Amino acid sequence: MSSEYNSAKQRSAELRKALSTYAYEYYVLDNPSVPDAEYDRLFSELQKIESSFPELIVSDSPTQRVGAQPLDKFSQIEHKVPMLSLDNAFSAEDLIAFDKRMGSRINNATVNYVAEPKLDGAAVSLFYKNGQLVYGATRGDGKVGEDITHNVRTIKSIPLSLRGEGFPEELEVRGEIFMPLASFERLNQEAAGSGDKLFVNPRNAAAGSLRQLDPKITSKRQLKMCAYSVGYYSGEGLPDNHFDSLLRLKDWGFVINAEMKVLSDIHECVTYCEALAEKRPKLDYEIDGIVFKINNFSIQKELGFVARAPRWAIAYKFPAQEEITILEDVEFQVGRTGVITPVARLKPVFVGGVTVSNATLHNMDEVRRLGLKIGDSVVIRRAGDVIPKVVKSVPEKRPENSREIMLPTLCPVCNSPVETEQDGVLARCSGTLICSAQLKESIKHFASRKAMNIDGLGDKLIDQLVTKELIDDVVGLYKLDVKNLSLLERMGDKLAKKIINAIEGSKDCTLAQFIYALGVPEVGETTAELLAKTFQDLESIMSASEEQLQAVDDIGPIMASNIHTFFVFETNKNKVAQLLELGVCPKRYEKVVSSENSALLDKKVVITGTLPTMSRDEMKSLLKSHGAKVQSSVSSKTDYLIAGEAAGSKLEKATKLGIPVLSEEQALLLVQ
Ligand code: IVH
Repeated sequence: MSSEYNSAKQRSAELRKALSTYAYEYYVLDNPSVPDAEYDRLFSELQKIESSFPELIVSDSPTQRVGAQPLDKFSQIEHKVPMLSLDNAFSAEDLIAFDKRMGSRINNATVNYVAEPKLDGAAVSLFYKNGQLVYGATRGDGKVGEDITHNVRTIKSIPLSLRGEGFPEELEVRGEIFMPLASFERLNQEAAGSGDKLFVNPRNAAAGSLRQLDPKITSKRQLKMCAYSVGYYSGEGLPDNHFDSLLRLKDWGFVINAEMKVLSDIHECVTYCEALAEKRPKLDYEIDGIVFKINNFSIQKELGFVARAPRWAIAYKFPAQEEITILEDVEFQVGRTGVITPVARLKPVFVGGVTVSNATLHNMDEVRRLGLKIGDSVVIRRAGDVIPKVVKSVPEKRPENSREIMLPTLCPVCNSPVETEQDGVLARCSGTLICSAQLKESIKHFASRKAMNIDGLGDKLIDQLVTKELIDDVVGLYKLDVKNLSLLERMGDKLAKKIINAIEGSKDCTLAQFIYALGVPEVGETTAELLAKTFQDLESIMSASEEQLQAVDDIGPIMASNIHTFFVFETNKNKVAQLLELGVCPKRYEKVVSSENSALLDKKVVITGTLPTMSRDEMKSLLKSHGAKVQSSVSSKTDYLIAGEAAGSKLEKATKLGIPVLSEEQALLLVQ
C-alpha cells in the first residue's frame, strides 16, 4: 500500500469521526460546536478523498446518506416485535379511569408515568446490528412494514452508526419521523410556486416523503426523527425503565423529545396535559396528543397487552384539528383596496376547539387548485391559533347538484366592473370612490387598534355610519358629534359621548400609527414604523422621492413606488391636509426605548465640555430617552460623567471621586 493511500485512509477515518460528531451536535443536540462552513469544508475534503480512493467509502460515511439509485418498488420487512397502537383518552376523566383500571391489576402499586408529546408524523422502526443501521421500516399493518432504508438514511437525525458504547448487539429503535412546521411551510410554498399540489398537513408531508422511491427527494424534505421506545434488543444494555432507556438512546445518537418528563401520578399527568396544550402553538412541530407510559419495565410486563395496544400506556388526544363539512356557498368579499376574495360558507363544524362556519379561499387560483364546487364535502383544518383553512375537497362525495364557483363580473357591493390582474388570480372592484365596501373597510382599518386606535368604533357602527351616509370618508369621523351618533341604532347618549371622546383622543397619535392608518397599499405597521423612524416627520415622508424611499433598508422598489404614488395623488394629499386641519396631530418620531433593557436606566449622568459631534442638548435628550437622569452637577452619587473638550472643574471633581468618565463615543456605545 502506498503511503498516500495510508494517509488518505487515516484522514478519512478522522474526518468521518469529526463529521459524525458535528452532525450529532447539530441535528440531535441542537448545539453545534463548529460553524456550518467548517462542517462543509471537512465534508468536501472527505468527498475528495473518497473520489480518489473509492475503496475507502464505507456505508456509514456521512457522504453516503443519499444512495445512488432510486428503487423500483418497496420490499417488505417483518417486524421483530409487532408495532402496536395505543388506546385513546379524550379527557381528564378518561385518564383517571385508565389509571384506576390499571391500578386494580397491580394491587394499586405506586407507579411513575413518562409523559411524551405524541408527534404527528409516521412511525418508523430502525434496526441496528453491532451499532450499524441495517434497515428502516414503516409500521405497515403492525406486523409487516415497508423497507424504507434508502430514505431513512437521508435523515440526518438518524445515526447511521450508533455513538458511544454499551449498546445491545441487536437493537430495534422505534420513533416518529416528522416534518417540522417551518419545513412544511417551505415545502408548500415551493409547491405552490411551481403549481404542484400542496400537502394537507405535516403528517401527510412526512409520510409522503418517506414513500418516495428516489431518496434524493426524501433528502430534500428536511425530515426529523424522534425516538420514543426500543422495540426489540438482544443481550444486555438497557436500564430497567423507559425514561432511562430513552436517555441511553440519546447517548447512542438519537433525538429524544425535550418536553419528556417523569410524573409521579395521574393528576400530574392531567396538569401536564394542560401545560402542554398551552405550549402547543409555540412548538415548531405538530403534536396531536400526549402519550403516558408506565415507566417501570417490570410493571409494564406485568400489565401486558390487550388486542393491539399495551395496557401500560395511553394516548391523550387533543381535539381534532381537521374535520369534514359541506361547502354550502361561496361569497365574494370586497376589501379595503377593492381586492375581491372568495369566502367559503360552511356547514358549521367543531374543529381545533372552535365552531367554524366561514373560511377564506384567498383567490380564484386557490379555488381552482382545490378543485372546489359548491356542495362539495371539504376538509377544514384549524391548527393552533391559526385561522381555519379549506385544505382539500373530497370529490368522491360530490353531490349531483354541485355548482361551479364563478368570479362575479360585477362588484357584489357597488356593481362596478370587476377587473382581474395576474392572469385572473387577483380580482379587484373598479369602483374605488363609489364602492361602499371599500369605504367601510378603509374606515375600519383607519380606526383599528394598530392604526388610530379609536376605542368603541367597531365594525357594526362603521357599517351604519356609511350606510346611513353620515360619513363618506375617514375625514368625516372628525366631523361627527354626539347628535349625529345618537341617530344610530342602540346608541345612547353616554355611549355616543364615549365614542366622540375616543375619536377626539385619536387625534393625538404617533406618526407611525397615522401612516399605517392611511392605508398605503402594502404598508403594514412595520413599514410605517420604519418610515417614521427614518424620515421623522410627515412632511418628509410625503415628499420623499422613490430613490430616497428605496434607500431605506427593507423598502424595495415596489413598496417605494406604492408610497410615492400614494402621496402624489391629490385626493390623498387632500385627505391628509383635511385630517391635520381637523386637529389630527401625528407626533414627530422620537425614539422610544424599552427602558428595561437600557444600561442607563435610572443612572445619574452629568455632561460637560464640548462633545466632538453632538451638542450637549442632543446628548441630553438621547440619554433621557434611554432612562438616564441627566444632572447639572457632579456629586458622589453621579454614575457617569460624559466629558468633551475643554472640560473643567466637573471633570476634576469626577476624577477625584472615582466616577467613570466617558467620551462621546463611549457614551454612544453604552446607549446601544
Ligand atoms: S408509543 C406500544 N410514543 O402514535 C407503544 N407512540 O398509536 C406504541 N406516536 O403511530 C407507540 N408519538 O407512531 C408512542 N411518544 C410516542 C409517540 C407515539 C407519536 C405515534 C406512533 C403511532 C401512534 C400510536
